[in-house]
Amino acid sequence: MPVSTTTLPDNIALIGFMGTGKTTIGRHLADDLGWRFVDTDTVVERVAGCDIPTLFQREGEGAFRSQESRAILGVSAGFRQVIATGGGAILRPENVAALRSAGTVVWLTARPEVIVARTERRIGARPLLLSDEDPLARVLRMLGERGPLYQRAADHIVDTSERAPRTLAREIARLVRTGESR
Ligand code: S3P
Repeated sequence: MPVSTTTLPDNIALIGFMGTGKTTIGRHLADDLGWRFVDTDTVVERVAGCDIPTLFQREGEGAFRSQESRAILGVSAGFRQVIATGGGAILRPENVAALRSAGTVVWLTARPEVIVARTERRIGARPLLLSDEDPLARVLRMLGERGPLYQRAADHIVDTSERAPRTLAREIARLVRTGESR
């Protein structure tokens, strides 16, 4: 039976770097709450009619970012949703504003080594990680650029390096419900 939603926000948005578990944890969280799960990458792929690597290849990152913003704006108008975003969602202030006005924003983190190990499994699905640069150096550099943006956007921070997705989903529900500060 879904848990009580009386003290919950309208939506919960998960932000964070690639490989921090936004989609997996988001699905569990939505199940626990009896809410809809929406992944903005999936929305972009549906609208574009192709997968994200193909979209990057055909039209470039700028076109992807514009579609991503449209997806975030659209989804943010909904209610009782767990919204998993792409790792670069925080790059545009209008995305952050939309997610923050839609509900509570949770930043999922993981140690850089954990991110490298997780993302190497499906590296082809993440065009921004395909490069000649050393994977750990690249992740560290991107985390350095993006860290302050995630930080500024977040109401809560949850480290996903060690614990299982189900446990983390429960932890997020608890944090969001109690409104405990980060
Ligand atoms: C991106 C992360 C990806 C996807 C796109 C760009 C990024 O999503 O949106 O490849 O800029 O970090 P995940 O974080 O779900 O892998």
